Amino acid sequence: MRTISVINQKGGCGKTTVAINLAAALGKLNKKVLLVDLDPQSHASLGLNVSFDEVELTTYNLLRDPRTKIEDVIFRIDDSMDILPSSPILSAIEQELAGKPARETRLGAKLIKARDRYEYVIIDSPPNVGLLTFNALIAAGEVIIPVEPSYFSLQGLHRLRETLELLEKETKHKVKVHVLINNIEKRTTFSRDIVAELERYYSAELMDVTISHSVKYKEAALRGMPIFGMGRSDRLQREFISLARELEEKVSFLQMEDIENWMIRLHGPRIVKEGVLFSLDAPNAENVYLTGEFTNWSREGIRMIRDEKDGLWKITLHLDPGEYEYRFIVNGVWINDPNNMDSVLNEFGQENSLLII
Ligand SMILES: Nc1ncnc2c1ncn2[C@@H]1O[C@H](COP(=O)(O)OP(=O)(O)OP(=O)(O)O)[C@@H](O)[C@H]1O
Ligand SMILES: [Mg+2]
Repeated sequence: MRTISVINQKGGCGKTTVAINLAAALGKLNKKVLLVDLDPQSHASLGLNVSFDEVELTTYNLLRDPRTKIEDVIFRIDDSMDILPSSPILSAIEQELAGKPARETRLGAKLIKARDRYEYVIIDSPPNVGLLTFNALIAAGEVIIPVEPSYFSLQGLHRLRETLELLEKETKHKVKVHVLINNIEKRTTFSRDIVAELERYYSAELMDVTISHSVKYKEAALRGMPIFGMGRSDRLQREFISLARELEEKVSFLQMEDIENWMIRLHGPRIVKEGVLFSLDAPNAENVYLTGEFTNWSREGIRMIRDEKDGLWKITLHLDPGEYEYRFIVNGVWINDPNNMDSVLNEFGQENSLLII
């Protein structure tokens, strides 16, 4: 599964247009695609004729409620594309999750559970850098930054690169960046100048394909369909198909293994072939034990082993389906699982991590 977030803090540069039409183009190439609407404006949902009045659950519930799964929120568009719709209430999530554990990794942790169902996940993000955009970035292995050919958007691009570098430093998560020129009138000298400028600064990241200016995009969005549903738009459709193909070709440049490892770090316990894998990133620990309802909260716990390959402390247990509370004991100190957002208060007023199988 490749997860690509379409981001840019600048409003109206084409994030939603690119997200919808790229998802549809990948579908035309017979890929299984999930489009995630992570913008309270819900333009990606509305642009595919999915109204939040008609759906029960949205990305708001997905981020907020530990028990809501991707499957509960999916809305099927066609054989190749599903969407996780959004609703305006998503704008409240930043405040509601303030101080909650793992709030920036919630989307990624949920998506990893759906990794066998989709070949591509495309995330449409809002025009600011807040909790939602962080969720979109942390869940992604790649980002597409749409830029319009203007000097103003060039400045925005420099700022965005700084934000990405900061995120990279703080989370040790590296995303591959693709800069996509959108809304270009190719024949003008001004456009050519801007493209030349972009090539100068971003040659490694700049995509070969560019997306032309056309009023058809607005019309398509109003009709609730991708450009592929519109008549007389062959040239535009070809551009998006070429964009999808270019991304397909770029796959060899990606360190897919790094992305997988990153996703594992994001996540609390994971179902694996042999049972349930618990893991913890505690680089300076001398010993780590796991304890919980499955050991009757024994003070000794079960010894976890450090995996030399990725440095994580790990243990795999056989557990029957059910709910289990657990904690880690790191150098004698009891902590909850920093990568598991599901938790309940115990009788001592501390949080136990909660595993639901
Ligand atoms: N290539 C294009 N040609 C013509 N119009 C375009 C193009 N791309 C986007 N637009 C139009 O520009 C407007 C803004 O586009 P869009 O909603 O995709 O931007 P956005 O970055 O998602 O905005 P926001 O930051 O508000 O989420 C829309 O009306 C859209 O139809
Ligand atoms: Mg948008």
